[in-house]
Amino acid sequence: PAKKEMLYEGKAKKVWTTDAPDELVIEYKDDATALNGKRKETIEGKGLLNNRISNRIFAFLNDQGIPTHFVNEIDERNAVVRHAEMIPLEVVVRNIAAGSFSKRLGMTEGQPLSRPAIEFHLKDDELDDPMVSGHDALALELVDESELDRIVELALEIDKALSGFFLEHKLTLVDFKLEFGRFKDSIILADEVSPDTCRIWDAASGEKLDKDRFRRNLGNVKEAYEEVARRLGL
Ligand code: C5P
Repeated sequence: PAKKEMLYEGKAKKVWTTDAPDELVIEYKDDATALNGKRKETIEGKGLLNNRISNRIFAFLNDQGIPTHFVNEIDERNAVVRHAEMIPLEVVVRNIAAGSFSKRLGMTEGQPLSRPAIEFHLKDDELDDPMVSGHDALALELVDESELDRIVELALEIDKALSGFFLEHKLTLVDFKLEFGRFKDSIILADEVSPDTCRIWDAASGEKLDKDRFRRNLGNVKEAYEEVARRLGL
């Protein structure tokens, strides 16, 4: 379907309505932001890499029977997705302590967790995406109980499927962020899954191949994303 009007512009993507009522087009930008948008740079070609990587991951999840918004790739920067009603929660799943989890709980980065940890953050730039409990999410009427249960169930299924998929390509899935939406009476995975939204380490060396290279000024951001694409056979 052809793009009609821009519905939304985020930090790394634009979302367009189309002539198909149930479908949107996601356009991936080359912008990278950190510190909730306070630091912003353009990384030439990042949008193309994230589009390809995210589409590959969503296609894999669809194949595994996990419901997602992904329909098909249009070209190097654009993909067609189902128009879900977005739930304003960021769902973070962690297999290994890193990032804000390590910091908050005083754990060394790289320490494996005995089982996946799940946390929710309210999507709100002004409040810097505060962490909320599942009960908070219910009290705020962001989700009902069956939706919350389904989101946790899907998050764990996605973690299991993706951890295996990454490991087959010699990559460790440390943690990642998911966003869900409502589509025709069910919950589906939406937004993107890419090196912008996951921590991905080389399984052998532990080298960081994700957005932490940008956040922590480690250099070779684009090269790391290219390596992930290459490993996934793209
Ligand atoms: O920073 P933190 O350790 O909480 O991040 C956990 C995971 O969620 C990381 O993989 C990070 O890339 C992702 N994340 C995200 N968008 C945010 C915050 C975190 O994709 N706004």
